[in-house]
Amino acid sequence: MARSRGSYYSALKRITRVANSGFGLKKTCNSIAKSAARAMQANGCRILSLSSQKEYLITVGTYGLSDLYLKKGPLDARKSLPDILDGKVVYIADAATDDRVQHPQTALSQGISSILGVPVLGKGQAIGEIRIYTREPRQFSEADKSFLLSVADTCAVIFERAELHQLLQKDYRADERRRKASPASPVPTSTLRPTTFAHSSEEDFARLLDFYCIDWLYEPRSFPLRWEGDKLAEMFTPDFYLPELDLYVELTTLRQNLLTEKNRKLRQLRELHPEVNVRLLNKSDFIKLLAKYGYGPLGEAKVEGVDRVLYSHAQIQRRVRTLARRISDDYAGQRLMLIGILKGVVCFMADLMQHLSLPVTLDFMAISYYGRDDEVVEITRDLDTSITGQHVLMVEDIVDTGMTLNYILGHLSAHNPASLSVCTLLDKRARRLVNVPLGYVGFEIPDEFVVGYGLDYKGEYRNLPFIGILHPELIKGESPQ
Ligand code: PRP
Repeated sequence: MARSRGSYYSALKRITRVANSGFGLKKTCNSIAKSAARAMQANGCRILSLSSQKEYLITVGTYGLSDLYLKKGPLDARKSLPDILDGKVVYIADAATDDRVQHPQTALSQGISSILGVPVLGKGQAIGEIRIYTREPRQFSEADKSFLLSVADTCAVIFERAELHQLLQKDYRADERRRKASPASPVPTSTLRPTTFAHSSEEDFARLLDFYCIDWLYEPRSFPLRWEGDKLAEMFTPDFYLPELDLYVELTTLRQNLLTEKNRKLRQLRELHPEVNVRLLNKSDFIKLLAKYGYGPLGEAKVEGVDRVLYSHAQIQRRVRTLARRISDDYAGQRLMLIGILKGVVCFMADLMQHLSLPVTLDFMAISYYGRDDEVVEITRDLDTSITGQHVLMVEDIVDTGMTLNYILGHLSAHNPASLSVCTLLDKRARRLVNVPLGYVGFEIPDEFVVGYGLDYKGEYRNLPFIGILHPELIKGESPQ
């Protein structure tokens, strides 16, 4: 059915009025989503904002979509219709069968057929998107696209206005990182702290999140709770949003009068906005939460001896999945034998193999070093099975000097495998003595002593779910990794 120019004109007038109403981000965007969907005679609309690290798309306004659809988790910016963020208008005729759709099963169960997505552009860069959903399969006209692009222009202005105070925090965090990277020239603290932290516990919380490389936004949204006639009478602004966990966090200092009040607001927020995942946390709750999501051992805010986290659990998992996809593609239709060298490889091997979509067998070797400067390698545990005629992938946690791998590859190739390649999670290229061919590399790392996710220092730290850099004081005078 053709939509008239008149209805688009009136909708744009309404949308501009709402944009200038001074309402909070969520109310404004919900109202725009509703006007846009109605004008286009569509069944749903979603307005998404790109997270500060450009990894996630955060829903800031919706209309006509069920909770189930909204709760399918934060959208991965690289997987969910990435062309839109490249500035393109994307049309999906059938969401259930189009492999560009990140959650096709959910779309199917929600009866969504067609999707039109346009970028929200701020200074020529995508800062978000608008998506329109229809139950009936639909062809979108040029007028439809041009209307939605105009709505996106209005959203760009709203986003930029809402992001203004966030920019100050990004500057602060960049400064903080620079300061950590060059401790010799510290930036005065007064210029680093955002003035917007309302309480010192929030500052502590932000530091802890930074330590564990967990992306955060400070007070990014206000949720309307109560209206008196047309006037907004009460709002609630949670302290933090953690995009990786799609979680809002309100901190509590445990003062009973505040706690009761905060609990009431949270109850109300959940009733009015059931799609919002929000938690009230005191310090010990927070540490338990970190443990649940794999950050840091329970009962300790920071791991003793670890100077800083190099790769968080989530970053490692994302990289492992990417490596597994590449390996699965490269060996498609073949069987693959994975060989690991004990013990450092255990975490990586366990995670990697679970994401391989191939028939896989597994074997392990153990080695010991002896001689001056550990330059001689001896195999103390050899393979259980023959590798002759097999496609073999050596899996390593870290390649440092390359001596170990060089020796093992020589040993294995003498048994005539069909192919022999290497996948290492970490490549400390700066310390390489022997050139070894690396087929798949997770991360190239600096020349620092790293621990965690299988890697040890004197037998400890292997159980950390992240990779951290050991405090230089701890290893003073010892030979490097
Ligand atoms: C690590 C790692 C590699 C080796 C790489 O093992 O698992 O096998 O070092 O170093 P290279 O490139 O300098 O030869 P480590 O000796 O620490 O034993 P582990 O696996 O039991 O921790």
